[in-house]
Amino acid sequence: MDGAIFFATKYGSTAQYAEWISAATGLPAFDVKTSKVDPLGYDFLVLGSAVIYFKPIIHQWVKRHLAGIEKKPVVLFTVSGAPAGPKLDRWIAKNLPQPLVMRMQHIALRGRQIPGELALFDRVMLSIAGLMNPDRTAAREEMLGFDYMDKNSIGPVVERVGLLQSAKP
Ligand SMILES: Cc1cc2nc3c(=O)[nH]c(=O)nc-3n(C[C@H](O)[C@H](O)[C@H](O)COP(=O)(O)O)c2cc1C
Repeated sequence: MDGAIFFATKYGSTAQYAEWISAATGLPAFDVKTSKVDPLGYDFLVLGSAVIYFKPIIHQWVKRHLAGIEKKPVVLFTVSGAPAGPKLDRWIAKNLPQPLVMRMQHIALRGRQIPGELALFDRVMLSIAGLMNPDRTAAREEMLGFDYMDKNSIGPVVERVGLLQSAKP
């Protein structure tokens, strides 16, 4: 089957993961902000999304293209500060259509947040969030940033894509 990667990024780390996954699988990668490519043209989809303010930011694009996504196999990779777990699952379940959440495969990757690269608004918001967050590890990361970018962590995404590529349409 033929597939493609559609991703939404704010500061570039999701784009970097999409590029690594594209190089490892041969799938084309499209930034949903700048590309008008229709997902209808593919048998399966890899969706990549940064998590910003408790939401996978690809959620609006998903809702707009639901007709083209419905019934196709979907692998979602999220890129977040939070690790895989119930908190991240909740943000996804709350912001993506439930039938999609029920049938897609989700892989959580961890990204990067460099305070000096952020827009002023985001820096201020994250500093306030850090002051109020009772989880001190998360609070520290919100205020001081982090870098968990890891090329090897794309392995599970590449593996699932391989299975889909070898399946019959
Ligand atoms: C303004 C802002 C808000 C964020 N909100 C969250 C969040 O709610 N939960 C989380 O786990 N990570 C959050 N992060 C961390 C991002 O998910 C992480 O930096 C990711 O690598 C961003 O992806 P991008 O570089 O593709 O935009 C936030 C980062 C920024 C800059």
